[in-house]
Amino acid sequence: MVPPEPRRERSYAHMSPTGTTKIPDVARALQNEPLSQRRDDGWWRHAVVYQVYPRSFADGNGDGLGDLRGITEHLDHLNDGTPSSLGVDAIWLSPIYPSPDFDFGYDVADYLDVDPRFGTLADFTAFVSASHDRGLKVILDLVLNHTSHLHPWFEASRSSRDGPYADWYIWRDSPGRSLTGRRRRPNNWRSWFRGPAWTWDETRKQFYMHTFLPEQPDLNWRNPDVRAALMNVVRTWLERGVDGFRLDVFNVYFKDAMLRSNPLAIGRRGAWSWQRHVHDRDQPELADALLEMRALVDSYGGKMTVGELFDNSVVAAAAHVAPHHLIFDWLLLTTPWSASRFRAAIAAREVAFGPDRWPANVLSNHDQSRHATRFAKDGVSVAEGDARAKVAAAMLLTLRGAAFMYYGEELGMRDIVVANSQAFDPPARRASFLFPWWNRDQSRAPMSWRGGPGGGFTTGRPWLPVSPDVSDRNVARQSAEPDSVLSFYRRLIWLRRETPVLGEGGQEVIEVGDDDVLAYARRLGDSSALVLLNFASRSARVQVPPAASGRGWRIAASTHEHDAAAGALGPTLTLGPLEAIVALDA
Ligand code: GLC
Repeated sequence: MVPPEPRRERSYAHMSPTGTTKIPDVARALQNEPLSQRRDDGWWRHAVVYQVYPRSFADGNGDGLGDLRGITEHLDHLNDGTPSSLGVDAIWLSPIYPSPDFDFGYDVADYLDVDPRFGTLADFTAFVSASHDRGLKVILDLVLNHTSHLHPWFEASRSSRDGPYADWYIWRDSPGRSLTGRRRRPNNWRSWFRGPAWTWDETRKQFYMHTFLPEQPDLNWRNPDVRAALMNVVRTWLERGVDGFRLDVFNVYFKDAMLRSNPLAIGRRGAWSWQRHVHDRDQPELADALLEMRALVDSYGGKMTVGELFDNSVVAAAAHVAPHHLIFDWLLLTTPWSASRFRAAIAAREVAFGPDRWPANVLSNHDQSRHATRFAKDGVSVAEGDARAKVAAAMLLTLRGAAFMYYGEELGMRDIVVANSQAFDPPARRASFLFPWWNRDQSRAPMSWRGGPGGGFTTGRPWLPVSPDVSDRNVARQSAEPDSVLSFYRRLIWLRRETPVLGEGGQEVIEVGDDDVLAYARRLGDSSALVLLNFASRSARVQVPPAASGRGWRIAASTHEHDAAAGALGPTLTLGPLEAIVALDA
């Protein structure tokens, strides 16, 4: 079966129908922080962060679902202190909290516990200390915009209009009935997961607001008790030893105080894009709340956050960056396989971020089609797709910024195909002509550890099918092949660890005489690196710029064989098809 064509479906990253480039006021307020005076020199700047989707990584008890024990047992793959492991610096865990799974953990029923299917708090403690023993930091996903509708706070809130939790969510009366007798909603806001953002509650006889599913009611961040409770969540996990947080859709925490309707817009397919989202996110009050959270996180020392911006504007993303706090922008995630498109994207980011703000680079995550699939959409062979995956790896791991990778990308894992009718992903089950949705199950297949029925992921029945290519593409097999995607990731990550200019240096994109070659230099003090990435399936003759040190370039990593004597680069060079070279000044 041919995988669904993501371009025609809703891409999760295209959240802003208007492609806004305006800096929201809240971000402007944060921009006033004296960024350059407080130079951010924490571990996260040069870090490679590995995202684990806990359901799909490793099953320690044979029930078909991944769990904490499984993750702990596989930490050697991530970093055993030697170049035969990946060598990453940190693990980001997608939510592990108790959840009824309407959005697979992104609907939290208890912020302070671990879902029994993933283990216990004791398993979590064991996981954190095993990670720390290997020098791995632990980053938790914090979903603070909304809870599950089964969270005790919401159950209490819906049960009474004047109890202690009455004002913990966003409740409103209906402003009356329409001519057809239908209850009118408080305003025109939409849910990102289809339909209106308001659901009627029969117990309270009021509407409540939800940016996502009706089973994910939005918290009322304007209520000081809510804010205090959420800060307590942050503090508790810091006390339990975590090193940072990924903040889910943080710029949606606050909505317009008067709940004004959004102005209408001409958009693409889908009602979300038919309005400008000016009142349902990016409110000025957010700045103060973020500063409070940052102060709390920073008070522990050595901790960071990375915020998921619910908007695709790189300008807005840059404006939210502050010391110790990274922001995901979506530019690289939405750029197709083309050197000139990546050159333009990188230039746009560099302009938006400037030299002081530190980007977060990411090509794949649990909401998107995997990049090895996206980049091979033009129907290239498996071998060519893998060659592109290696070029992409070289880019991800050498661009200025923290690098975030998604489990399985180190193998070149592709999406699996799951029809919407079979989907677990809730919005995919609600998909329709006017609500096109790319089924996210497809990028959440079990990790391919080795060949065989459960792919080494489980001894039971996996919750999603293992990848159809699991017997060819798995950790065991690729570990033994020096040319595999995995071996290339390992070489590059270890090179990055040992080479400060790759982790910390400034960056300049350069022209080398062939449009299909993306080239850039990194510079730190008097050391430099040169990265040459041939996006084309033909060879490319390029001009090699002189190293600033005058010492000349020597190849430190390449996708292709070079004999040792030729490891030194002359003024011109022929790159092989889909060749990536990382050279250092000798
Ligand atoms: C974030 C998560 C996504 C989730 C949504 C709602 O965008 O990445 O998986 O569905 O928030 O919590």
